[in-house]
Amino acid sequence: MKHALQVEIMKELLDHIDNNRTVDAGKIVMNPTSSYTDPELAEREWKLFFQQHPQVLGLSGELPKPGSYFTSKDLGIPILATRDQDGKFHAFVNACRHRGAELTEDARGEKHRFSCPFHAWTFASDGRLLGIRQNEQFGKVDKNCTGLIELPSVEKYGLLVVHPQLDGVIDLDALLGPELAEELASWQLDRCVYEGESVLDMPLNWKIANDTFGEVYHFASLHTKTLAQVLHGDAAVYKEYGRHHRLCLASKYIDVMRQAPEAEWSLPYAGAVAYYLFPNTQLVFLTSMAVLVRIYPNRKVVGQSLSRVSHYKVPQVQAYVPSGAQVNAVTNDNLYDAANTSAHMDLDVTAVTELFVSTVEMEDYYMGTKTQSAAASGKLEHFLFGRNEPALHHFHNNYRDAMGLPPLTEYRVA
Ligand code: FES
Ligand SMILES: [Fe+2]
Repeated sequence: MKHALQVEIMKELLDHIDNNRTVDAGKIVMNPTSSYTDPELAEREWKLFFQQHPQVLGLSGELPKPGSYFTSKDLGIPILATRDQDGKFHAFVNACRHRGAELTEDARGEKHRFSCPFHAWTFASDGRLLGIRQNEQFGKVDKNCTGLIELPSVEKYGLLVVHPQLDGVIDLDALLGPELAEELASWQLDRCVYEGESVLDMPLNWKIANDTFGEVYHFASLHTKTLAQVLHGDAAVYKEYGRHHRLCLASKYIDVMRQAPEAEWSLPYAGAVAYYLFPNTQLVFLTSMAVLVRIYPNRKVVGQSLSRVSHYKVPQVQAYVPSGAQVNAVTNDNLYDAANTSAHMDLDVTAVTELFVSTVEMEDYYMGTKTQSAAASGKLEHFLFGRNEPALHHFHNNYRDAMGLPPLTEYRVA
């Protein structure tokens, strides 16, 4: 992210902190609770957003070199993502062209040849059929027409994007819009290094899971012992880019950094930058770590979802260390002590993983399961999204618009 923009956002965050202000959507809106429980709506969402819309599979760093691969079943299709000998990204249907066996069940690895475990046909990382065992006995096969089935895919701005339909079209620039595309490019996401993942499979609708990323109003009450130790609640800077948005938060360390010359300011070290990418992706930067969260509905149970949380090191985000300052290496062991000092905080992957367990799983998503139960009871017609929760207005109005539903109704005091 360009430095001038980081400084501009930090000034706005400091203004919010100093004056007890925050973002203001200008109104309260009502969200029907059926949006989290209606099976017919869920089926339409699945088709429209998860079958007919491009999907972020990961960041480029998940395929760090030629021969790298990973598999995914989150979109209901077995996918084998590879980087071929020439470094090109592919997303194949993970099914052998003989009789459909999965070529590999590994989550990820490195190889240039995939030998089918069923009858040992072999395929290259670019999808070509290389060999048929006992070809004479099997019979003549046109190898040019029996390569792996390839899904449309694009690698750009450090994002690995796939379209679940064979004839799907991915126009990433049109989807992101020029302003967000430029901002994402400025992060140089292609340099992020994959460090591992966590999976949260819990009884809450995918949109409730998404809602937990959409406001900081709950920090002071829900995250008293966890995230609120590290981050300021309430203060937030919010911006929309078409169907996507960005929410910036301030960490406690902004109070130290504000004393330094502006030229040394660094937003990822003074807070967190969270992008929401339509329809189901959150990309969060915190110190020199990035977290990519993709939230998938459970097709059988409306009130269940799976969040795949990938962790990356972001080497190009320079750590801000004031001269002579102590550097505090933050791990899972000292995560919530760290904020009590004024030392520079540098989170590692264990700290970020812990953050996603102790905060997101045990607090945010846990609370989301309660919200889900309330919605499922059918006794509450709607939930309220406040003036200080604009990202929730935006997310819900967006997906409603995409489905041809009217925008959320304003709540007014009678
Ligand atoms: S199914 Fe793959 S070789 Fe037979
Ligand atoms: Fe939270």
